Amino acid sequence: MQTYGCQMNVADSDWLDRSLKSAGFVKTISEEQADFFIINTCSVREKPEQKVYSHLGRLKEFHEKNPSVFACVGGCVAQQVGKGFFERFPYVRLVFGPDGLAMVPGSLQRLENNQHLKISLLDFEDHYPERIENWPDKMPPQAFVNIMQGCDNFCAYCVVPYTRGRQKSRSSEEIIRECSKLISLGVLEITLLGQNVNSYGLDRNGQEINFARLLRKIDGLHGLNRLRFTTSHPKDMSREVIEAFGELETLCSHLHLPLQSGSDNILKNMGRKYNRERYLELVKGLRKANPDITLSTDLIVGFPGETDHDFQQTLDIMNTVGFDSSFSFKYSDRPGVRSSLMTPKISQQVKSERLDILQKLQEEWTAGKLAQRIGGRDQVLIEGPSKKQKSGVWSWQGRDRGGRVVNIDFKTREDFTGRIFEVKFIRSKKHSLEGEVVT
Ligand code: 5AD
Ligand code: SF4
Repeated sequence: MQTYGCQMNVADSDWLDRSLKSAGFVKTISEEQADFFIINTCSVREKPEQKVYSHLGRLKEFHEKNPSVFACVGGCVAQQVGKGFFERFPYVRLVFGPDGLAMVPGSLQRLENNQHLKISLLDFEDHYPERIENWPDKMPPQAFVNIMQGCDNFCAYCVVPYTRGRQKSRSSEEIIRECSKLISLGVLEITLLGQNVNSYGLDRNGQEINFARLLRKIDGLHGLNRLRFTTSHPKDMSREVIEAFGELETLCSHLHLPLQSGSDNILKNMGRKYNRERYLELVKGLRKANPDITLSTDLIVGFPGETDHDFQQTLDIMNTVGFDSSFSFKYSDRPGVRSSLMTPKISQQVKSERLDILQKLQEEWTAGKLAQRIGGRDQVLIEGPSKKQKSGVWSWQGRDRGGRVVNIDFKTREDFTGRIFEVKFIRSKKHSLEGEVVT
């Protein structure tokens, strides 16, 4: 199984992994041994969508060697292209959208029993589609919990409302039940997931409880150490949620708050429904509630009609806020979205130049912010071994409560995954910190 795209796709693939395992399917070590392949796709930008087609092209050789080998395509590209995959790639025998995921394990069994069958699971449900869980005896220390599906915002550039459908909040009882179960299986950190978590409960599936109340309830669960959530829309960030950053013990001091552009004109054309001033007010409120909070964001360069002045406004607000990190993208037209009809389009060359300038500026901010942490302390939850190992010590990687990556050297050979240490930061690098355990 290969997963592209956002954390929601990762969470969907994790679920599918658990379900297939409990249905008796076995993950093969090499691609040559596989009876079928699953690709969970992303169509938010042009680049990840292109990767899906080249990946599928590569699978052709396995089908040619053994004609019973087939591919399954899930996620947002599947929802968008649908049965078109059957024509373009004859060895694709299953397409499923985000709401069809729950039916994938059963469908795979049917496909294995009938070599001539092809199945498409592309309907949208009216309600949040609950899935049967097959929990293992123990879970890794971090877990995702879906709290909603879809999005109602229709930002001018975004394909998500078309691929993931309208917003559907999940019942708070189901969310709490899942969180409690995960904690009982060893989970210490929960990240709540949704396209726009701040509007949880506000759609027609919503209940009596809003996002701030949901956070409070989960914060109160015994045994939980860290709570995070993503993604937030600035227009729906309520005062209650901002204050929660100063009040809730488990809520980590990090927020991902996509800005997209620093120009009021572009924000208006994007249909984002906030302006610079409102965004800066939110930042002020968040830092007042929790002075340690780290902020990350998403930025798009080269939206249709973006002038040099608009772009300067983005650089300017980056310097005003001082983001700890950011994800930045060149605008790309997506099928059926409003901005694909907007002009003038910005050339690839200008988009690349702007992205380069923006990313260099962010690198400076990131490095500077990390350097400020030297000498400070925080709790670090170990996630796994560090990518780079040195001789004579064992390096482990984790994150502090602000979400910064921290590497720590240990003298003993032990599995530290899931352990929480009080750490002093001794050095900073471009994207991470080095720390030592305080005893
Ligand atoms: N072009 C470029 N970037 C996009 N994003 C969403 N749609 C597009 C598009 N058409 C970016 C936004 C969003 C992130 C997930 O992807 O910044 O927050
Ligand atoms: Fe897309 Fe806007 Fe919804 Fe985010 S809030 S998923 S950018 S439409």
